[in-house]
Amino acid sequence: MNVLNVVGTRPNLIKISPLARAFHRKSGVVSKLVHTGQHYDATLSDIFFAELELPSVDYHLDVGSGTHAEQTADTMIGFEKIVEGEAPDLVVVVGDVNSTLACALVAGQRGVPLAHVEAGLRSFDRSMPEEINRMVADALARYLFAPSADACDNLKREGVDEGGIYFVGNVMIDTVLAWRDAARARRSMERFGFRQKEYVLYTLHRPENVDQVDRLDQVIELVERVSAEIPGIFPVHPRTRLRLKTSRLDAALRRVPRLILTEPLGYLDFLSLMMDAVCVITDSGGIQEETTVLGVPCLTVRKNTERPITVTEGTNTVIGLDPPRAAEEVREIVSGHGKRGRIPELWDGRAAERVVEVLVEGSRV
Ligand code: UD1
Ligand code: UDP
Repeated sequence: MNVLNVVGTRPNLIKISPLARAFHRKSGVVSKLVHTGQHYDATLSDIFFAELELPSVDYHLDVGSGTHAEQTADTMIGFEKIVEGEAPDLVVVVGDVNSTLACALVAGQRGVPLAHVEAGLRSFDRSMPEEINRMVADALARYLFAPSADACDNLKREGVDEGGIYFVGNVMIDTVLAWRDAARARRSMERFGFRQKEYVLYTLHRPENVDQVDRLDQVIELVERVSAEIPGIFPVHPRTRLRLKTSRLDAALRRVPRLILTEPLGYLDFLSLMMDAVCVITDSGGIQEETTVLGVPCLTVRKNTERPITVTEGTNTVIGLDPPRAAEEVREIVSGHGKRGRIPELWDGRAAERVVEVLVEGSRV
């Protein structure tokens, strides 16, 4: 069985890591890795290969940055050649980024069976490119691996054949659980001069928060207000870094007292900082899930979430881009009233094993 696994961005690498390992353990499976090159900075790509013991890349498309159409089209052209040469039995895509969309389209057009891991998530907000990407990947997939029951329900509501839907749990959580002890032992907070539960961790990179100057200005106000309550650390995503620079708001962010700005961090440092933070303030998708499993309160700076289980069962609160509310929520958390939550069903570290059982052994989960 010849399997092509696709990665393009930071969260893809974190999701594919347990899948690659599970495929590797199966005899009779040749599992290859295709990197589209959507993310190319060492801090967004190379570092995860070393830390997460990912297999080396078999094909690199070097697509780089561009508009949605440029990135999608370039990836399709490169990936189609690989599919032609490899004649794979299966293409595996994860998540909802442009690389996911592009490779799903190629698999669909060439008639190669497609597995979509993290199927069925919906924000019901088509202004987010990720929502379009997820919907298309799900429409084309033969195997839809859902992380939660709400994701299965979304797919059924859309008329997807129930025989193709598999509720397997969450591969991102497989990675958290595999590396949690190593991350805890690092005590990365100490390198930044923090003590346990005495700092906030920020990540913000969504176009809706950083691409327009007035919104980015509000992001800075949010960070200022929260920093007045408690110190923080903000590893800055390259999209945000670029927008800060072009809008000349970078100086304003640097002036925020008690705030450390860093480059994006490696997985183990980031996980370590997450587990020891009093709370995480983010617009990331995956971090909403990771904080739920770690039991750390998460404030999501978005209008909605495609991961509602992190709100109904986990530690997540969706607060929008609302600086006074963020400060108020942080005060509550610091005074011991943060959400505790519980761990969602099947977020147990074995999702990738279940996916591979279905794909290789044809088992029902
Ligand atoms: C992409 C995904 C988003 C995901 C995020 C994870 C899409 C539509 N978006 O957003 O869903 O949450 O990755 O981090 O697929 N850049 C660099 N170096 C890099 C990569 C990007 O400097 O290695 C800069 C470039 O200026 C680029 C910008 O960041 O134009 C945005 O990169 P892009 O991959 O288009 O989108 P992300 O915002 O990273
Ligand atoms: N992450 C990391 N270093 C950082 C910020 C995030 O390793 O500086 C990890 C984080 O733990 C999670 C993933 O990157 O596993 C989330 O990626 P991102 O927020 O870029 O994408 P999204 O989940 O929003 O698609």
